[in-house]
Amino acid sequence: MSKKKLDQEKQIAAAAAAEMVEDGMKIGLGTGSTINYFLESLGARVKKGLKVQGIPTSERTSVVCREQGIELLDFASVEKLDLAFDGADEVDTDFNMIKGGGGALMREKIVASAADRVVILVDSSKQVENLGSFPLPVEIIKFGFQQVERKFKAVGIDYTMRMTDYGQPYVTDNGNYILDCTMGEIIAPYAMAEKLKLITGVVDSGLFINLCDVLVIGRGKNVEMLENKRK
Ligand code: A5P
Repeated sequence: MSKKKLDQEKQIAAAAAAEMVEDGMKIGLGTGSTINYFLESLGARVKKGLKVQGIPTSERTSVVCREQGIELLDFASVEKLDLAFDGADEVDTDFNMIKGGGGALMREKIVASAADRVVILVDSSKQVENLGSFPLPVEIIKFGFQQVERKFKAVGIDYTMRMTDYGQPYVTDNGNYILDCTMGEIIAPYAMAEKLKLITGVVDSGLFINLCDVLVIGRGKNVEMLENKRK
């Protein structure tokens, strides 16, 4: 499908999700192009008087929120969020996900874990049978990152260090690096997530296990909303 059609799917999924926000809610705000559409729709509601406060998952999202007049919070003043909204790079049939294509995976996971319900907005290309076609982002600390690379090689994980357009290693908002790992099909995502977290120097992986409550999919001109009944 063309990028234009996929963008339209993101846009309609985002607009439908923005209608789920109720007056007075505290919400999590993800990162990426789909969430930028969501913030546009939410911003339009805020301009009409909707009261909402959000915790952003990246500096980029903070900037868009300020442009849209969406009030920001942080975890110093809030323990629980009503809803968190985010995009995804892949979602499997069990609602497990690969995230972090935009580099914000750690903050996204913290925000998703603090929400009563997590709403994921995607275009139809993101739905897969099994995760793994999309390279799995793994955030690692800078100090001794060569040791993490050696460990990955030793256990047979193929990766590339994420780089900027200027040929420098990409640095996350947390000051860390990202290894994009070519895994092939991930048949046991939970076991893989655990395995990666046990490697010293790994901050977290982009495997989001059982964190999605509602999946909002733009498909053609329609929006589908799927509930994760396992949660
Ligand atoms: C950001 O770090 C990611 O987890 C995004 O949620 C993901 O890359 C989806 O991005 P798009 O909405 O741009 O497809």
